[in-house]
Amino acid sequence: MPAYSLTINNKPVTVDAEPDMPLLWVIRDIIGLKGTKFGCGIAQCGACTVHLGGSAVRSCGLPISAVAGQKITTIEGLTGNQQGEMVQKAWIEEQVPQCGYCQSGQIMSAVALLHRTPRPTDAEIDIAMQGNICRCGCYERIRKAIHLAASMQTPPASLKKSLTRS
Ligand code: FES
Ligand code: FES
Repeated sequence: MPAYSLTINNKPVTVDAEPDMPLLWVIRDIIGLKGTKFGCGIAQCGACTVHLGGSAVRSCGLPISAVAGQKITTIEGLTGNQQGEMVQKAWIEEQVPQCGYCQSGQIMSAVALLHRTPRPTDAEIDIAMQGNICRCGCYERIRKAIHLAASMQTPPASLKKSLTRS
């Protein structure tokens, strides 16, 4: 069985796995991080969302051989990440979760969105979050929490300058 090296939550790891083993299996069953959830297994529900180089991806649809040498962040790796901590605070403030099953995937998609679009509109939120299904229907609270998290962030230096000038 081949060995693959990658970085998960800033820690280098090497795993023995078949080339087609989904990253989700590696994260949960080999590394033992259970925050990333299995939902559909066919890249349709978003429960298994993690970050690959900062972008949200479905870990159930990514074979380990395709991510060798790359940096992966799971929900457990959000500590110390500005957007990650703001999103988690906002989720608590807005009491977003119901059963909670989809929520780690929702949070990972929300953090990736705020990373590339610090002040998203409703339409941008809807587009970014459309691949994350919530069978409890928490979509309104998710959208509110993303706006709240956006308002908690420190504005980038360029935005601060233009706010000071106006
Ligand atoms: S479990 Fe990966 S998208 Fe549903
Ligand atoms: S909170 Fe239950 S599936 Fe989303």
